[in-house]
Amino acid sequence: MLPANGAAPPTAPSKNWDHHVQQADELSRTPGFQDLRDRIVAKAAPVQGERAIDVGCGTGLLALALAPTCADVWAIDYAPGMIEHLRGVLAGEMITNVYPLIASAVSLPRTDASVDLVVSNYCFHHLDERGKRAAISETFRVLRPGGRLVFGDMMFSWNPAQERNREVIGSKLRSIARRGPSGWLRIIRNAGRMAAGRGERPASPDWWRIALLEAGFDSIEIEVLAHEGGVAAAIKPA
Ligand SMILES: C[S@@+](CC[C@H](N)C(=O)[O-])C[C@H]1O[C@@H](n2cnc3c(N)ncnc32)[C@H](O)[C@@H]1O
Repeated sequence: MLPANGAAPPTAPSKNWDHHVQQADELSRTPGFQDLRDRIVAKAAPVQGERAIDVGCGTGLLALALAPTCADVWAIDYAPGMIEHLRGVLAGEMITNVYPLIASAVSLPRTDASVDLVVSNYCFHHLDERGKRAAISETFRVLRPGGRLVFGDMMFSWNPAQERNREVIGSKLRSIARRGPSGWLRIIRNAGRMAAGRGERPASPDWWRIALLEAGFDSIEIEVLAHEGGVAAAIKPA
């Protein structure tokens, strides 16, 4: 059985992403996200002509990286603002094999066994535990046998009993507090959002390993990074 992930799973949407398109775009250009993109693409090792989905594509960090190799990339996000932004980028760069679509991670707009590769970055921690399991089972459904899932995300839990969790939580709090009064305000606001069930909902590497196994994946590899994040890869058995 899956271990509890530190706190009772909240169910409300984590935030209205339509108000954060520019912020998400700026985040996607940071060295941290560019490094995650490179690790995910390297691990996914897309082959010419493959069909892919980017789940929670935001402004297109992964979809744009896969476009030169894949036959098509379905870039899905539930925030219309992200999809509209990505459509503008694609038109500007004349990329015609990326298909942005408003859709939820828990209901992918593809038929069974129709894609070779599912990628995602920093989307799943916005879902509660039930949502994460539903998203993983959707990726399993749409992947062909032998297809791969590769995703990056926060990989820790709020449970302070484990050392890595304490380190990650401490370092997050210190870095926000260093901003002074605006940072302290943010900590208070975030605490309020978490209490209301709208905060970030990261899962630990162990949680993900078990969730992926329970969904039917094998060849599961989870790389825990030096910060809060990690990259997970798994294959749908052939
Ligand atoms: C931190 S941004 C990451 C965007 C992009 N993957 C990147 O790495 O730059 C998280 C994205 O996940 C999307 N998202 C969150 N929950 C989602 C869900 N349940 N279904 C689809 N998209 C979701 C948000 O709208 C947002 O665009």
